Amino acid sequence: MKDSNYLKERNAKSIWHPMAHPADSLNNPPTIVTEAEGTRISDVDGHQVVDAVGGLWNVNLGYSCEPVKAAIANQLDRLPYYSIFRGTSNDCVIELGDMLQDFFAPDGLTRAFYTSGGSDSVETALRLARQYHKIKGQESRTKYLSLKKGYHGTHFGGASVNGNANFRTAYEPLMPGCFHIPAPYTYRNPFNETDPERLAQLCLQALEDEIAFQGANTIAALIMEPILGAGGVIPPHESFMPGVRKICDQHGILLIADEVITAFGRTGSWTGSRHWGVKPDLMCTAKAITNGYFPFGAVMIADHVVEVFEGDTEGKAAIGHGYTYSGHPVGAAAAIACVTETLRLNVKDNAAALGQQLFEGLQKLYDDFDMIGDVRGGHGLMCALELVSERATKKPIDKVTPVKLQKAAYESGAMIRVSGPNVILSPPLVLTAEDVDTILAALRSGFQSL
Ligand SMILES: Cc1ncc(COP(=O)(O)O)c(C=O)c1O
Repeated sequence: MKDSNYLKERNAKSIWHPMAHPADSLNNPPTIVTEAEGTRISDVDGHQVVDAVGGLWNVNLGYSCEPVKAAIANQLDRLPYYSIFRGTSNDCVIELGDMLQDFFAPDGLTRAFYTSGGSDSVETALRLARQYHKIKGQESRTKYLSLKKGYHGTHFGGASVNGNANFRTAYEPLMPGCFHIPAPYTYRNPFNETDPERLAQLCLQALEDEIAFQGANTIAALIMEPILGAGGVIPPHESFMPGVRKICDQHGILLIADEVITAFGRTGSWTGSRHWGVKPDLMCTAKAITNGYFPFGAVMIADHVVEVFEGDTEGKAAIGHGYTYSGHPVGAAAAIACVTETLRLNVKDNAAALGQQLFEGLQKLYDDFDMIGDVRGGHGLMCALELVSERATKKPIDKVTPVKLQKAAYESGAMIRVSGPNVILSPPLVLTAEDVDTILAALRSGFQSL
């Protein structure tokens, strides 16, 4: 490693950071993380903190997951790469495919299509949804529906169904044929409805209205996160996703569950769809499938969709889509070890229990700091605080305060993530009760310092 003077001097001078203004990265150089162990990360100055971000919602098993590291090292030695485009395969993708078939059997998903990450998984699902209808002779079904506030990565397809202007405006025009309905976001919504169940019904009515307006026979799929994540951790009422499922079924629209952050235990259930008792037609996964140690993902496909593709005799189901790194053997080996370890540790139960502890601790902070307008969570280890400059009017916070809070919390022992007005917490699922206390104490001292 280069010495710390060099790293600090060169920081952000030769690279642009994702999701950052290049000038801001120069003026406020990012924290340089150099080591990690368990649930903690250390920076170039040796300052160690609990990682309340969990990498980026992906390091579910922490930073010292030896089975995944060993699987990657061994696989690099044995077969560092081979493609699985038509005509070739590798042993790892086959073994992983069987494993994923078992893991996702309760969701009714029986085939995997491998990708290199979340945005790739979203792109894949959107494409397969259109192709599904074409195979069935319903060429007119090309449009997509999604939720405002939803996050689906940054490929053009994903950005087009994305529900946040920050990821759209600079890159417009986006893909035509994408339409958004209100999110079941109780704190702010166009209906001024504060009751989650009534709000869910209103959003479902808006969905039905949009389908009637567009014409059901023009819509290929609806994509949604079971719990909206990057948009500020927005758990819907329990009636919402089942309601979406029902409406999609009534109109022949495929339901794509974007579970890039919710699959593999984060919500306290093995998948977000299962959390709500819903079986999607396609499911996007990535991130925690390799514990974040290797870029990898899988789109899982429901049995009835599989039947349409595999039963095609006209060549329409030939898949003209895929990535050089679809089914990378090192990623697949990492995923085999990761899924095995995820199940062995049964991390979903720890996520549920400690998620509750974290959520209750955040509610205590709400009692003490007026700057917290809303506390969201209660479904595993995904929580958020929405900051306001005035609680009574919900006036949004300025841009600087969340960044100051993040810095102060970091000094006090926890890496947190701020995204606009939201503090987002998505720690590793192997967190301990003491780690939760450390995160809460760091946040408290951060708020006190403002
Ligand atoms: C729900 C969801 N979908 C898609 C993505 C995009 O994944 P990636 O950043 O791996 O491309 C993310 C990333 O956070 C996500 O949260």
